Amino acid sequence: MITPVISIDGPVASGKGTIARRIAEALNFGLLDSGAIYRAHAQACLSRKISFNEINLLEAEAKALSLKFVGEAVWLDGVDATVAIRSEAVGMAASTLSAIPQVRAALLQRQRDFAAAPGLVADGRDMGTVVFPDALLKIYLTTTAEVRAGRRAGQVAKLRVAAGETMSAKQLIDKGKSPTITGLLETIRAQVQHDVEVQIRRRDWQDKSRKIAPLKPAIDAIVIDNAAHSPDETVAAILKLWHLRLASTQAS
Ligand code: DC
Repeated sequence: MITPVISIDGPVASGKGTIARRIAEALNFGLLDSGAIYRAHAQACLSRKISFNEINLLEAEAKALSLKFVGEAVWLDGVDATVAIRSEAVGMAASTLSAIPQVRAALLQRQRDFAAAPGLVADGRDMGTVVFPDALLKIYLTTTAEVRAGRRAGQVAKLRVAAGETMSAKQLIDKGKSPTITGLLETIRAQVQHDVEVQIRRRDWQDKSRKIAPLKPAIDAIVIDNAAHSPDETVAAILKLWHLRLASTQAS
C-alpha cells in the first residue's frame, strides 16, 4: 500500500514546522522536517570547513551524513545538534548549499525513506513539487515577510529575555521606564525586527530563485495565508481538508 503523505511547504518562518508537527500528532503520522536535514548538512560542512565551491566534497558530505532524529532532537555525528542547527547562519548556509543539484540529489532518498505507515507529514520547500509529488494532500503555507519577521523577532526576544539579557533593561531604565517583561520583550522585538526581515527576504529570494526545486506552491497545492488564522484554525482547516480528501479517494 502507498503511504499517505501530507506535504506542507512554505517559506522561512511561515509557521509550517508547528503546524506540521500538530497535524502529525493529531493523525499519529510520522513527521519529516526536511529543513533539519539541509541544516545538518550545512552544519557538518561548516564545522569541517569545506569550501562552498568544492562541489564533490559537499556532495560526499551529503551522502555520508551521519544524522539521527530522536524525538524532536537532531543528532549529528553522534552529538546533539538540535540547537546548533537552528542558528540563522546555519539556515542561510543551508539555503545556499541546497541550491546545489548534487547535494539535493544525495539527500533525496533519505527524505523519501521517511514515508512509512500509517502516514507522513512532510515539511519543507519542495515536498509537494519534488520529494512527494504524489502526496494525497498538498498545503502551501505562507504570509508576508513582514508578518513572518514580526513572529521570528518575538521568538528572538523571548529567547534573549530567558537567557537573562540585561542591555535592553538598562536602556529602558535610562529612558526613565521600568523594565517590565512586556517592555523588555517589546524593546528587543523592535530592535531586531528590521534585521530579521532583511534576513527573511534574502532567504526567500535565494530559495525561490534557485534553478532546482525552487520554493513555490505545487500546481495542486492549497495555499493558506496563515496570518489570517490562529494556529488552531489552520490545523483544524488542514485536518478537515485531509478527511475530505480521504473520503473522496475512498469513494473513487
Ligand atoms: O525550513 P528551514 O528554514 O529549516 O530550511 C533551511 C534551508 O534549507 C532553507 O532555506 C532551504 C533549504 N531547504 C530546502 O532547500 N528544501 C527543503 N525541503 C527544506 C529546506
